[in-house]
Formats: sequence, structure tokens, C-alpha cells
Amino acid sequence: MSRFWSPVVHTLSPYVPGEQPKVDDLIKLNTNENPYPPSPRALAAIAAATERLRLYPDPHASRLRATIAARYGVAPEEVFVGNGSDEVLAHTFQALLKHDAPLLFPDITYSFYPVYCGLYGIRSEEVPLDAGMKVQFADYRRPCSAVLLPNPNAPTGIALSRTAIEALVAERADRLVVIDEAYVDFGAESAVPLVARHDNLLVVQTLSKSRALAGLRVGFAIGQRPLIEALERVKDSFNSYPLDALALAGAAAAVDDEAWFQETRERIMKSREQLSRDLSALGFEVLPSLANFVFARHPSHRGAELAARLREHGVLVRLFRKPRIEDFLRITVGTDDDCGRLVALLRRLV
Ligand SMILES: Cc1ncc(COP(=O)(O)O)c(C=O)c1O
Repeated sequence: MSRFWSPVVHTLSPYVPGEQPKVDDLIKLNTNENPYPPSPRALAAIAAATERLRLYPDPHASRLRATIAARYGVAPEEVFVGNGSDEVLAHTFQALLKHDAPLLFPDITYSFYPVYCGLYGIRSEEVPLDAGMKVQFADYRRPCSAVLLPNPNAPTGIALSRTAIEALVAERADRLVVIDEAYVDFGAESAVPLVARHDNLLVVQTLSKSRALAGLRVGFAIGQRPLIEALERVKDSFNSYPLDALALAGAAAAVDDEAWFQETRERIMKSREQLSRDLSALGFEVLPSLANFVFARHPSHRGAELAARLREHGVLVRLFRKPRIEDFLRITVGTDDDCGRLVALLRRLV
């Protein structure tokens, strides 16, 4: 604390990211990274881009936006890119979600959402998930300025269908609906095809998970032009160059490498199904996940106890100290070898 702090700084409750250990010999299943290296084409493009580091990068990210637009069947003007989807979300909160009525999001969801509300002074209401940890759209029929839902939800991994999302978007046509699709590539249905029909829909994605580029920090949003313009206005009032030259080059090459993308996501989805079966066989309750992680609890062991025992044996998983979910472990789907070692350890612990 210091007398030089702006008043708002005293009120902030910053996000606490999962541990990034300083040693290499841990099995890291705590921050939903991809266990495989990124596309070799992305790595080659990043290496080639080092020759241009003397220059500022393209502030409009024109090539990357055109690449994303072509991949997702939209116009480049319907694409916004940022430094990780966290930054895209931050700009979304400031540009589009600050109104008189509250913003709605689930009570159990990505824990950065309330942090942005605190930073930007946005009123929000948390809508409880039902007893099965699912979003019930009927609960969102209340006064609000906008609705924000991750699909699949994090940390539950439970997904919503595109039909259900379209019903919500159509019913709340005068409210913005933001769908955070950080994990959508692992089996859920993207809402991107709905953007052409609905001017109140913004879809946010990231290259951190399914493209294995968490370290490059690239995320994007797809929406109709006025929404993208709002994000651009905030971005250009904050930082003209949020993506450096390496990120621009690597991200475009990664989005272009469809074969790598399909093969890697299939592999992770297959490993997830095996991991879910193995955990169920050990007596865990495993929520049905369409993400690159599973959310599971054991009826006779506290989450904190299991996480601590796993940590002692060199395996990191994520725990959330929040009512209803404190005994769940969120376990990132690693390689089959990582998952096998986790399951073997748990077999001894439970
Ligand atoms: C639901 C959700 N949205 C967004 C993000 C942010 O991802 P990034 O900033 O790496 O794109 C995460 C990261 O874990 C997440 O879980």
C-alpha cells in the first residue's frame, strides 16, 4: 500500500493465475495448456519474423485478421485481435459491458470476469448454475445489460449447444451476449456461424489452448462491425501494438495449419475420454467435459488433500476455494503418458 495509489487500486481483487513452476520435472495439469508443441509452421514463421524486430508491428494486424476471417468465414472487419483472449475480454468489458443494468454471468465460471468488473466499475450479478452444474437459460430472463457465458464453461467443462445459444441471443435481441469460446475446439459447437444473423453476439476465442500458443498471447473476437469498432476504439486508446511482430506471424501461420489443428485436438479429445473413464473407475464423479480439462471430485477425499498429495508426487492440478466446487480438481488433459501417471498415482491415493 502507498499514498501514491489511485483510489481504485485499493479496491481491486486481482486475478491469481495458476502456478507456473520454476522447475521442469513436474507434470503440469493445472493451467489448461496444450501438452503438445505448436504447429512447426508457426514456429518457423516466428523465427522468420525476428528479422523484422527493428520495426513496429502492423497496428491493424491486417494479415492475421484476414487469416482468421478466411478460416471462420467472416470479413476481416468482423475480427478483433488482442494480447491473449484475456485482453480481448478486458476490452470487451470496457467497450461493451459497462451499462446501468447489471452484467450477468454464472456463479461458477472463469474467475477473471468479476476481476474486470472491479477494474472497470461494472455492476454484475452471478447467476447460479443448477444442481448439475449446468447453465439454465430461464435463469437469465431477468433485467440485465448483457450476458456473458463461456462455452464450454470453465471450470466445469460442460458445453451448451449452438441451438440453445441462438435461442438466448434471439430472445435477448436487445442485450449483448458474449460467448467466451476459449475451449470450444475440443468438441463443443462454436457460435461463430450465428454472428452473421445476430448483431448482439460477440464470440471470443484464443490460440492458447487448441493451438498450443499460450506463451505467444493471442486471442480474438468475432462479431458484427459496430461491436468490433467499439473494441478497436478502446484498443487504440490503450495500446496501438498489443500484438508484437512474432505473435502476429506465429498466430497467422498457426491458424493456417488446419492439419496440425485437427490432429492435435482429436488426440486431446481421445485422451480426455480415456482420462474421464479412468477417473470414474477410481470412484470420482467426473462432469461431462467438452474442454481440454476434466472437473472431478472423489466422494471420500477432500480436494485440497488430493491436490496436495499429487503436488508432493510432482503432479500439479488446479483447485478452486469456492463454495460448491472446493472438492473438485480441475485436471488439464495432458499427454497419454501424463494422464497415465496421474491415474496411477491416484490409484494409490484414493
Ligand atoms: C474461460 C477462459 N477464457 C479466457 C481465458 C484466457 O485465455 P488467454 O488469455 O490465454 O487467451 C481462459 C484462460 O484460461 C479461460 O479459461
